[in-house]
Amino acid sequence: MADRNERIEIMLSEEEVDKRIKEIGEQISRDYAGKQVHLICVLKGGSFFLCELAKRITVPVSLDFMSVSSYGGDTKSSGVVKIVKDLDEPINGKDVIIVEDIVDSGRTLSYLMAMMRDRKPASLKLCTLLDKPDRRVMDVNVDYTGFQIPDEFVVGYGLDYDQRYRNLPYIGVVRFD
Ligand code: IMP
Ligand code: MG
Repeated sequence: MADRNERIEIMLSEEEVDKRIKEIGEQISRDYAGKQVHLICVLKGGSFFLCELAKRITVPVSLDFMSVSSYGGDTKSSGVVKIVKDLDEPINGKDVIIVEDIVDSGRTLSYLMAMMRDRKPASLKLCTLLDKPDRRVMDVNVDYTGFQIPDEFVVGYGLDYDQRYRNLPYIGVVRFD
């Protein structure tokens, strides 16, 4: 195959993303007034969003991390969800919010939410930076959404294309010329 020129087209600017994260942080702070919120980050994609979001939440916050795999070095879902790293702490009795980078087919999140529900948290919500509703094959109830986006493969703000571009401070689409 001939070499292709890869470039990133900006879909959501750094300012737009940061502004929206601030709004979600304020919303969560209102919704959880008087409580402590336990944020669970789904690695690696959710990590940038988690950090920015956590900084904007004014109620007490605790954090935990887990890692699941559903994608290889490709842009298509393999449909396999595997727990690569489980949580360090139990979540029973806690007010938990799962923080994800993107809900695409919904396979990862429907599996994960069911698994978390079994561990009896006091409450369980889902917060995603991006949602691609057109791609959904499994029903997932999303409580906080940053942006609904069209069916495009996006990178940046934690999202990767073959492990690259996670560090971009905005959301972009990979274009091949
Ligand atoms: P789902 O199980 O199909 O909802 O996929 C969820 C996971 O697939 C996300 O957490 C991402 O890691 C990955 N993913 C889905 N869409 C994209 C995309 O547009 N760019 C980068 N990663 C994506
Ligand atoms: Mg992810």
